[in-house]
Amino acid sequence: MDIKKIISQMTLEEKLSMLGGRDGWHFYGVERLGIPDVRVCDGPHGVRVHREKAEEYDPATNFPTASALASTFNEDLLRLTGETIGKECRHYGIQVLLGPGVNGKRSPLAGRNFEYYSEDPYLSGKMAAAFINGVQSQKVGTSLKHYIANEQENSRLFISSKVDERTLHELYLTPFEMAIKEANPWTIMGSYNRINGVYGCENEHTLMNILKGQLKYDGLVVSDWGAVNDKIESHKHGLDIQMPGPVEITERLRQAVLSSEITMANLDDHVERCLRLNERVFKQGQTIDIDLDKNHKIAQEVARESIVLLKNDKILPLKKNSKVALIGRFADDQVRYNGGGSSWMKAYKIERPLEAISSRAKVIYAAAYDQEKTTPKLTQAALSAAANSKTVVFFTGTTASMESEGFDRSSINLPKQHLELLKKIHKVNPNIVVVLNNGAALDLREVLPYAKAVVEAWLLGSAAGEPIAEILFGEVNPSGKLSETFPLQLEHTPAYGNFPGLGDEIVYTEGLLTGYRHYDFRKLEVMAPFGFGLSYTSFKLSKPRLSKTVIEHDETVDIRFDVTNIGKREGSEVVQLYVKDKVSYLLRPEKELRGFKKVHLKVGETKTVTMTLGQRDFAYYVPHLGRFVVESGEFDLIIGTSSRDITSITPIQVNSPDKVRPHLTLEYPYTQWIRYPHEKTQVEKLIEMTHKPQWWEAEPPLSRWLNNLKHELNWSEEKLSEIKKMLMEEE
Ligand code: BGC
Repeated sequence: MDIKKIISQMTLEEKLSMLGGRDGWHFYGVERLGIPDVRVCDGPHGVRVHREKAEEYDPATNFPTASALASTFNEDLLRLTGETIGKECRHYGIQVLLGPGVNGKRSPLAGRNFEYYSEDPYLSGKMAAAFINGVQSQKVGTSLKHYIANEQENSRLFISSKVDERTLHELYLTPFEMAIKEANPWTIMGSYNRINGVYGCENEHTLMNILKGQLKYDGLVVSDWGAVNDKIESHKHGLDIQMPGPVEITERLRQAVLSSEITMANLDDHVERCLRLNERVFKQGQTIDIDLDKNHKIAQEVARESIVLLKNDKILPLKKNSKVALIGRFADDQVRYNGGGSSWMKAYKIERPLEAISSRAKVIYAAAYDQEKTTPKLTQAALSAAANSKTVVFFTGTTASMESEGFDRSSINLPKQHLELLKKIHKVNPNIVVVLNNGAALDLREVLPYAKAVVEAWLLGSAAGEPIAEILFGEVNPSGKLSETFPLQLEHTPAYGNFPGLGDEIVYTEGLLTGYRHYDFRKLEVMAPFGFGLSYTSFKLSKPRLSKTVIEHDETVDIRFDVTNIGKREGSEVVQLYVKDKVSYLLRPEKELRGFKKVHLKVGETKTVTMTLGQRDFAYYVPHLGRFVVESGEFDLIIGTSSRDITSITPIQVNSPDKVRPHLTLEYPYTQWIRYPHEKTQVEKLIEMTHKPQWWEAEPPLSRWLNNLKHELNWSEEKLSEIKKMLMEEE
């Protein structure tokens, strides 16, 4: 497609029409020039296929939600998930999938946490990149969302997220940046909220300076549905398409272009991005056939690896054909497989754990509750099932009205009546396995004392019944690891007391210290750390061997170590590499994830893992320099099987010419100036000139002493400013 030529043939009206959707789910093409419309549909855990006319949907495969997907720590599976969803999009004639989401997790209360990968930006970035590469390998576009600082649901349409530049770059931008560099999503969705006072869809700094400038993003920026506050401001500052349509071409918009308030070059850039998307997606050609049963099996494979075993007091795996009381409707007709809101979709086939478990054991089933509520009769039946069985498998979690897009959670507790029931069951049969269905961290203080095992089964998609049963009965060895920390209690969480906030501004006061960065820094105990998950076997990690023990800032280092399965079953371990900067000018977290690998091992088998670290892995963002910087010094390379199960710490020296220090002004005292060689020389020149060294031993600002000197030595104003200029001379 000759994009430039097409643009030159387009009328102003055709160009303007491209800036808004044709309807809720189509971007405009240019009919006259044979450029078709682009059809978009929600995701990201599967495609929500709207029939063209009615509010009806076609079936598709519903994969686990993002927090579960990230718990696989398996990039290949994420790619496969993306590829499969991409194929289903092609089958249904859909050109862009609206996902994935990579917003951060300031608080476990955030309503959409289930739809975002992780509290850690590196893990989120890797997961998003693999997923996008999968979808786009099918010539189907993605829409990486929600750009940016959209970490809550309450007040999302107007709240201003006040976030400092360093936190923005290191935590919230990193997953977008990684996904752009490693997978280049063909569209990005601008968020509803404001960022430091300016709406996400009209924010010059985040859209133009960072996204299209610094990150050189060449795709299309689409607004979240209804996120445009002012059309002109949006198109002036980087938004390409306003959704949903139909969007009227207002006289104001036309005049803005005619008067060059929006320049023709700017308008053409928007159009060029629309056409580039068109060119990319229409390479997909004819629709293709799909096999939903085969895809269902792929979703099972993903679900298996998403499950995290949180506790196992020698009760799992369960014995086949044993007597099991299966309690809770989440195992049957109220199965929790997805979160609420725009990611809801029509799942092809919803597996019920009841069926899968019944095919492996003698099950006495008790419904026990209807969503959050139980009744004396339901409780009685559950207690009698428990009393008459060897083991109890109790399904609990969040209900749809507790966890969804559109609102934040009010607590991280399980439904009160579920917990009361659990305690009662414990009295009649303490052999309890709890299976959790939830999209984000929970307070488990009232679960752990009453459960011998706890299985985190997330919102696991529509193919989850079999995978849960396979884990319970030991046909599959659990290998998922938590993509977010489970705190002991809400009061320990990073943004506690400052989430979701009142008024129209939310200040990200916790800064960089979210997730494990916060718990590590404050030395808080947690219920289950980031990266944690048990297995039915055990592993041993050797001490690492480094390719170099001293590197220059622009070199890489390889870290090699062996992982051995020393238990009695085949299984997979997720090994994790964190980096700690031992001395830094600005505060840095205790450690940060910079690599991970999932290794599958037979009994007794050993495999060697290699991870490579480069410049960015040692760097942090320095606001007054406006870029990522490596500071010379010693770093620790921390290897472990969770953020708290550390197997080795190895130092490495990194040399760098970069200096991180304050931008010294004359308001800093002598004692600060002499800490830095260049400034020291400057101030020494002054001492030499004035022969007044004794003055410089004091703490007050340099400017005060300069004024004293002026009077004492009768300097003119010109002389004083000359001297000030000399002091401030750059290196
Ligand atoms: C959500 C987006 C979604 C869009 C279209 C919005 O409310 O925030 O994630 O893609 O609706 O359904």
